[in-house]
Amino acid sequence: MRVAIVGATGAVGTEFLGILEERRFPVTSLSLFASERSAGRELEFRGSPVTVRALPDDGDLEADVVFSSAGGSLSRAHAQAWARHGAIVIDNTSAWRMDPDVPLVVPEANGDDALAHRGIIANPNCSTIIALVALAPLHRAFGLRRATVATYQAVSGAGMAGIDELRDLTRAALDGDPLRPRKFRHSIAFNLFSHDSDIGDDGYNVEERKLLLESRKILGLPELRISATCVRVPVFRAHSEAIHAEFEGPVSADAAREVLAAAPGIRVVDDRQRNTFPMPLDASGGDDVLVGRLREDTSLPGALALFVAGDQIRKGAALNAVQIAEHLIAQGALRAPVP
Ligand SMILES: NC(=O)c1ccc[n+]([C@@H]2O[C@H](COP(=O)([O-])OP(=O)(O)OC[C@H]3O[C@@H](n4cnc5c(N)ncnc54)[C@H](OP(=O)(O)O)[C@@H]3O)[C@@H](O)[C@H]2O)c1
Repeated sequence: MRVAIVGATGAVGTEFLGILEERRFPVTSLSLFASERSAGRELEFRGSPVTVRALPDDGDLEADVVFSSAGGSLSRAHAQAWARHGAIVIDNTSAWRMDPDVPLVVPEANGDDALAHRGIIANPNCSTIIALVALAPLHRAFGLRRATVATYQAVSGAGMAGIDELRDLTRAALDGDPLRPRKFRHSIAFNLFSHDSDIGDDGYNVEERKLLLESRKILGLPELRISATCVRVPVFRAHSEAIHAEFEGPVSADAAREVLAAAPGIRVVDDRQRNTFPMPLDASGGDDVLVGRLREDTSLPGALALFVAGDQIRKGAALNAVQIAEHLIAQGALRAPVP
């Protein structure tokens, strides 16, 4: 299969390389694209260097599948042209997620929706993916009605620049130097703040709105109510979320634990004796969403409280995209052309 990665030098793009290799994705040729700044750089794949190129003007990436993660405006401008040249584009940006003609897919929740694509498939927002890996099986078992979510989001969610900022400002703070944020508006060193996305008239920021709208689309629940508070925290990698979810009827923590333990993509981490629950350090570099702190929500009958942590560069982005491609291959819907 001819594979192209657009945004190959970024936080998500570089993750694709390792994931395609680890999962033995059937790559016959790999093309790496980034901005003009990175043209000529070499990245390693299966022990060999691959040269990063600038995007071609004609839109032909000579690929069967394109994993795109170079920002929404680039994807909005070019993804249809990549698809017209025969590629299936699996897009990590926000450009196409709410387009009614584009499936928005978390394989554990709605993998088969991907089969209805018309050339572009959208990967959801990272916080949405991590929440839904846990909420989808609970919804199937108990019928989800409403949720409140508080997120604790890693700086790498803002790309390589977010990672650099946490490292540089932490060092500056420890050295007693002035704190001069570049990527974020406020210092992320020894601090946290409301998510760095624009705020609408209703007071919700863009990230909070994505959690609501994308969850409705993925779960096929147009009336689902979700109220989120999204917060950036000084963690390099892996987003955590406190979720309070209300179901159609009473749900015990034990019944929920059983459902979650049997669900794909989840590792239950719920050790009350050792006070050990999902943590971003434990989720980092792994494929599973960690789920724990399971308890009945005492504030509302029929509601559960839980805490999740997931590597948002892997499951929240690159891994989810590769799993979508694997699902298409398994269903015979993505094949390399016969030479
Ligand atoms: N980070 C996450 O956890 C995460 C999770 C889910 C979705 N996403 C989405 O994935 C996308 C990439 O995020 P990221 O975190 O990987 O960002 P990043 O680390 O800033 O990387 C951005 C990538 O896009 C490339 N790029 C920028 N402008 C370009 C242009 N004009 N032409 C071609 N390539 C260009 C960059 O190339 P250069 O290196 O040459 O500048 C780099 O490879 C974003 O849309 C983001 O919202 C990110």
